[in-house]
Amino acid sequence: MIFDIITEPNPQLRQVCDPVEVFDDALVQIVADMRETMHAKRGMGLAAPQVGLKQRLVVLEYAPKDSDEAIIPFTALINPRITWSSPDRIKMFEGCLSLPGLEGEVQRPRRVRVKAQDLTGQKVEIRASGLFARILQHEIDHLDGVLYSDLMAPGTKPTPVKE
Ligand code: NI
Repeated sequence: MIFDIITEPNPQLRQVCDPVEVFDDALVQIVADMRETMHAKRGMGLAAPQVGLKQRLVVLEYAPKDSDEAIIPFTALINPRITWSSPDRIKMFEGCLSLPGLEGEVQRPRRVRVKAQDLTGQKVEIRASGLFARILQHEIDHLDGVLYSDLMAPGTKPTPVKE
């Protein structure tokens, strides 16, 4: 099932989501539907509040067309939290399915470590850099009601994506 995507300024995007405590078949189905939705909308990541679910759950996946870009395999993270961020920060352009047609430059740590649980509740730890680290930070922010546009330099705001 493909979910509808909630867009700004829907207040559901601004909620702090609740921890997932039950690892059951319903959770597996939600993750499968979020993956299908992410593919249908051509996103690189999707967080549960973007589809109206107030739960701490994100999915990511990136299969680049250019072979010089790194593949990010499908990853579903339950209750993810950033446990370490590198002091070195880089600027990158970000987009978001909840701010359709827009992009904006955001400075964030280059590398992060994330602790989370998988679909069975097992603990997992991820070390990420580059685009993977960027998507992780963006999606985890959604769980606390934070959008990339909140993090742009003062006086700047998202602008239409150039074709
Ligand atoms: Ni987003």
